[in-house]
Amino acid sequence: MMNGDVVLRLNNVSKSYGAARAVDRLSIDVRKGEVLTLLGPSGCGKSTTMRLVMGLEQCDEGEIIYQGKVVDSAETGVNLPVHKRQMGMVFQSYAIWPHMTVFENVAYPLRVRRVRGEKLREAVERTLDLVGLGGFGDRLAPNLSGGQQQRVALARSLVFEPQILLLDEPFSNLDAHLREQMRAEVRLLQRRLGITVLFVTHDQVEALSLSDRIVVMKAGRAEQIGTPYELYAHPGTAAVRDFLGRTVKLGGRVVEQLQDNRVMIELAQGARVAATAQPGHFSIGQACTAAVRPETLEIVPGLGGAGTLAAKIEMLLFIGDRYEARIGLGERETLLMYLPATDAWREGQEVALRLPERGVQAWPA
Ligand SMILES: Nc1ncnc2c1ncn2[C@@H]1O[C@H](COP(=O)(O)OP(=O)(O)O)[C@@H](O)[C@H]1O
Ligand SMILES: [Mg+2]
Repeated sequence: MMNGDVVLRLNNVSKSYGAARAVDRLSIDVRKGEVLTLLGPSGCGKSTTMRLVMGLEQCDEGEIIYQGKVVDSAETGVNLPVHKRQMGMVFQSYAIWPHMTVFENVAYPLRVRRVRGEKLREAVERTLDLVGLGGFGDRLAPNLSGGQQQRVALARSLVFEPQILLLDEPFSNLDAHLREQMRAEVRLLQRRLGITVLFVTHDQVEALSLSDRIVVMKAGRAEQIGTPYELYAHPGTAAVRDFLGRTVKLGGRVVEQLQDNRVMIELAQGARVAATAQPGHFSIGQACTAAVRPETLEIVPGLGGAGTLAAKIEMLLFIGDRYEARIGLGERETLLMYLPATDAWREGQEVALRLPERGVQAWPA
């Protein structure tokens, strides 16, 4: 049974190179109109997954279903060629044709599909407008900046109105500023068109900000699938937790079972803190790690009293809108935190960290 809202389904898909499994029994549904992102470190199988979806590789196991049709099946040997899948794609390298004008680059997929004349011109110009390149049609591709070239690639992948857009690290050749700008633009464009996007990145900020849902991948497998908020606030594994953001880890032990899957932890520093047990069950006395996102810690001058941790500002760096501070906690721990740009802070100052009432998680030590 396939829900009509599912545009693309990977069903238990594996792909090996020699003895190494690049993709390992991966199952994913991409729903109509969503941005689904494959996020994970280099080598975890993101691009291999993308190449399987495109049709550049064939599954060793499992099947891929696109718009209700099996396009790749290890069992039956079905493998629909790339050009028959009708998917839009943009990759890290621009791969636009340097000897052609911007117009001709974007027109190419339509010419292949035998679109001609006024209809072609209209479609190309509409798409160039869409990506902010209206009026650039006559330029030769090499005379454009990196960001503009990537927009040409985007226009070329959109011009034939594909049902899905595949983006594999499309911004990673751009500088940080341009990357941020393109990120916002792609999100706006995607919303406007309502197009379904399968996106690949190793950059957690890019994934968090662009995605409706994220698949965190590790060693060819889906470690966890969820919305950016779900994954950030409720990581199912330590790998997901640490890949998606910074974590302050404090040692302690469980001293009490509370309601709602929560436990009371006595920290090595002495303070007690209530935490959500994540994942699984803890017994009284069990050693554990209290994990907190640093932005949920409140830093207060002086001694904070009960429920706070004694800390010290070891280093302060003024970075304009705020301070970047290295905070020493106990004997060995140091954390990087941001402090508001007031003149209340000094290097060497004793401070207290107040733990959030919600948002502390207990993990097995
Ligand atoms: N053509 C290939 N031949 C052999 N090994 C490959 C090939 N493509 C990818 N791999 C291996 O498969 C694993 C996953 O690679 P890839 O899908 O490119 O990862 P990612 O895109 O997440 O960085 C890596 O260990 C990589 O070395
Ligand atoms: Mg890759």
